[in-house]
Amino acid sequence: MAQAINNWQMDQKADLHAPQAKPKYISTFKALSGYIREHRLTFAGFILCTLIAITAELLQPYLVKIAIDDNLMAGHNDYRGLLIICGIYLALSLSSFLFSYLQNNLLQKAGQSIVASIRKRLFNHIAKLPMSYFDRVPSGSLITHVSSDTEAINQFFNQVVLSLFRDGLTLVFILVLMFELDPQLTLYCLILVPVIAGIAIAFRSFMRNTYQMARTRLSRLVSFVAENLSGMNLIQVFHQQEEQKKQFRERNDAYFKANVREIRTNVVFNRTFEILNNIAIALIVWFGGRSVLGAELEFGVLYAFITYIRMFFQPINTITQQWNTLQSATVAINRVWSIFAIQPEIDDKPAADKVERQAIRGRIDFDGVSFGYGDGEPVIRDLNLHIRPGELVGIVGTTGAGKSSLISLLCRFYDVREGSIRIDGHDVRDLRQQDLHRIVGLVQQEPYLYSGTVLDNVRMFDPSISREEVLRACQFIGADVIIERMQDGYDTRLSERGSGLSAGERQLISFARILVFQPKILILDEATANLDSHTEQLIQQALHLVSAGRTTLVIAHRLSTIMGADRILVMSRGEIVEQGTHQQLLDARGYYEELYRHAQGQQGSSRTADAAIR
Ligand SMILES: Nc1ncnc2c1ncn2[C@@H]1O[C@H](COP(=O)(O)OP(=O)(O)O)[C@@H](O)[C@H]1O
Ligand SMILES: [Mg+2]
Repeated sequence: MAQAINNWQMDQKADLHAPQAKPKYISTFKALSGYIREHRLTFAGFILCTLIAITAELLQPYLVKIAIDDNLMAGHNDYRGLLIICGIYLALSLSSFLFSYLQNNLLQKAGQSIVASIRKRLFNHIAKLPMSYFDRVPSGSLITHVSSDTEAINQFFNQVVLSLFRDGLTLVFILVLMFELDPQLTLYCLILVPVIAGIAIAFRSFMRNTYQMARTRLSRLVSFVAENLSGMNLIQVFHQQEEQKKQFRERNDAYFKANVREIRTNVVFNRTFEILNNIAIALIVWFGGRSVLGAELEFGVLYAFITYIRMFFQPINTITQQWNTLQSATVAINRVWSIFAIQPEIDDKPAADKVERQAIRGRIDFDGVSFGYGDGEPVIRDLNLHIRPGELVGIVGTTGAGKSSLISLLCRFYDVREGSIRIDGHDVRDLRQQDLHRIVGLVQQEPYLYSGTVLDNVRMFDPSISREEVLRACQFIGADVIIERMQDGYDTRLSERGSGLSAGERQLISFARILVFQPKILILDEATANLDSHTEQLIQQALHLVSAGRTTLVIAHRLSTIMGADRILVMSRGEIVEQGTHQQLLDARGYYEELYRHAQGQQGSSRTADAAIR
């Protein structure tokens, strides 16, 4: 699995550094074909409308030719016939307008709904990816996938498919009409086709490079901004603003330059095409004009010809430009599908144990557990730990000792390398994820709040949990006082990450969130680390209440938080080096005792306490 992710990352890198790498068109269209089939009626309607619109448009010059040659030049003074022709002309342009409109609408409708379902599938898929995936892929690049890659797919429908049908058919129709009018003159015009093709191909690869460069630089800029925004507090704490500003400026400049280059290339290409167009017209005026003067060609035919040749170049130009969009859509589709290809590493077994959540008592067994991230050094080494139902266990240890990793394994964010973890005898790998995550409730240091009301945040938008249950949970841990002080009480809207609330308030809300789900096992990972002493006390009291009747694991910096635990574990370098009650550990005169003495000496300075264990 890790290998697959690695490969995928290599692909990513290849995308960035070798933009010319050939995209796989075949597989791209195969990927989309299922979606297209779903909307085949709409697409059929689109093609029909396109045919009608093009026919109506291209018959217009032909009609003028008839008016000129059969009416004006024939000298019948046939006013009625002329009027009829004008009427038909108007009808044609109206239907061309109407069917172009329909054609666009149908395509938009199909394209948008396909993109919407791809976006939804992508989001759902990302939400199921293993934690190890997020360790490796920066969130900025995921944001790019969901936003700009799906946008590129959108453009594929709105531009590439549209142009391929509309402009492709237009070209074919024009050629047919021109041959119908005068085969010889048409052949003269076709002499220019190799020249057009030559120029288009020459420009194409150049334009592709400039285009890719602009996209690559944009994606770098976007992920830079996204990562900066999410790490803003770090930047400010470490006074990195100037450095980040500089980096931003560099990326921004690079993107700017790439854009200017792209636009310049486009302009040169377009003008070249225009010149070619004018050369073609000059040729026709010369050859055709000579024939008209020699009475070998009717004037109306010459008129129609000039009009068609004008119309001939525009579609070629548009189609060539679609090449860029096709390229970026292909890259985007490949990238999106390569994400789809990543299987959720941690998936329910087909025959997962169905446990009755209420029947779980909360016994935890770690047997010979070893674990490391990716292929790295083990961070948990041959660890054995047995926790009784209802036991309150405190865990202390230096930063990096492996405390959080231990918890991640219990929650099965990762799978163990060796050994097993069992809850009431069920291996966590045999439990369904949804059961496991309701049995084990985890409160972390940085609780995440969603944009929504306090109420919704506590019950995690689960309408099956009543308002009363939420109120009860909040009262139970003493959060109600704080919440009732808020502007709209439980209906106060919180912004993302709960800005506007203090760390303690957020922590209390997340605590209540865990409680409404009534987990049998409750884990607090440094949940009290950032709190002021008043809030810590609130949590402390709440902890005392909620730990009754459930197995509780508390990882804490401050020894005061865990002093009353049934058992305290001291962890160092992925192993449990001491365990016992507060008193037993003091009597043992080991790490814990030293830690405690330091904490006493320098109250609150957990850093010194950490140093003591090292
Ligand atoms: N997502 C991760 N990817 C790679 N290494 C990690 C990851 N999380 C933690 N580690 C490493 O694992 C070790 C244990 O970390 P952790 O369990 O977070 O310790 P603690 O919670 O005790 O501070 C550390 O060396 C840390 O650098
Ligand atoms: Mg930790």
